[in-house]
Amino acid sequence: MLRRSPFGAPADPQPNSKRSALGPRGHNVFERLFGHAHPAPPPAALREAPIVAIASGKGGTGKSFLATSLAVLLHARALRTAIVDCDFGLACDHLLLGVKPALHLQHVLQRRARVDEILVATPHGPTLVPGAAGVRQMARLTDAELEAFGKALATLAATYDAILLDVGAGLSPQNVLTCCAADFVVLVTQPEIAALTDAYAVIKTLAALGACKRVGVVVNRVLEPGHGAATFEKLRDVAARHTSLELCDLGSVPDDPLVTQRRLGQPPLCVTEPRSPTVHALVEIRDRLAELAGPFRARDRAAGEDVAARFAEFQRVV
Ligand SMILES: Nc1ncnc2c1ncn2[C@@H]1O[C@H](COP(=O)(O)OP(=O)(O)O)[C@@H](O)[C@H]1O
Ligand SMILES: [Mg+2]
Repeated sequence: MLRRSPFGAPADPQPNSKRSALGPRGHNVFERLFGHAHPAPPPAALREAPIVAIASGKGGTGKSFLATSLAVLLHARALRTAIVDCDFGLACDHLLLGVKPALHLQHVLQRRARVDEILVATPHGPTLVPGAAGVRQMARLTDAELEAFGKALATLAATYDAILLDVGAGLSPQNVLTCCAADFVVLVTQPEIAALTDAYAVIKTLAALGACKRVGVVVNRVLEPGHGAATFEKLRDVAARHTSLELCDLGSVPDDPLVTQRRLGQPPLCVTEPRSPTVHALVEIRDRLAELAGPFRARDRAAGEDVAARFAEFQRVV
């Protein structure tokens, strides 16, 4: 719409300084002939949702259970949520969410499909980016594959309100890189000493790379009330003594036979047992995560601070 001039006639949308003595067709003739008179405008700010990496040192601590549960519970809060199964080679989120994908992340990383072509809507809300199960070459990604991964995450983060990354266990370069590129890391551990030692190894690695200042901790499979908080305190003391990383207590989840006894094709626990103590604990973890890593909606990122740029930056040092 044209602006109104103070004298009643519509204001000329072209400021005077830009008008050409050569008439309307002569407008911008010099720019057209000799190139742009002004430097190119800076790249527009990118909009990106928060990206949360769910990681662990030791395998089997419950990352996939936690990631899929949080994805369903975030969706229940009316947040468009995508979960990315980054357990390269040993993916299982599709089983926990009850879908059978034909295409998976490997197709995107090898540029045989776009990320929007492999998305799967799951029955209980969140969108799944399926991972490759049993593909040995996916256990070690090439630089080109990692670059494609960073770009796929950028596309997702521009589309959803919350992105959860279910990261593989351990300190392989691609797992560490995925954590470094995320906005927030949730470390899943258990009260046993082996899981705690491995969790501390992850903390030390992230602290040494300077990738993040805070890490959230979930203590899973807790057998007695209070044991989760005590486990967190132990980990926080060691981290505070030896690193500059601040650990935040996201909460703990009881050891629950209902989790282990789930059959293939059964809906997730938070759908079938919403009133159970385990699901209560998961809801509290979701809400604390939203306080610490949220708000879960796309926000402006300056060029160079988007996930693809962070991926490229840490790819050089990891
Ligand atoms: N809170 C829990 N109570 C009982 N069993 C659990 C709990 N969390 C996870 N498990 C079980 O532990 C095993 C490993 O969980 P999973 O989520 O696959 O771990 P990860 O992804 O870290 O390898 C699975 O058999 C799962 O059912
Ligand atoms: Mg897993």
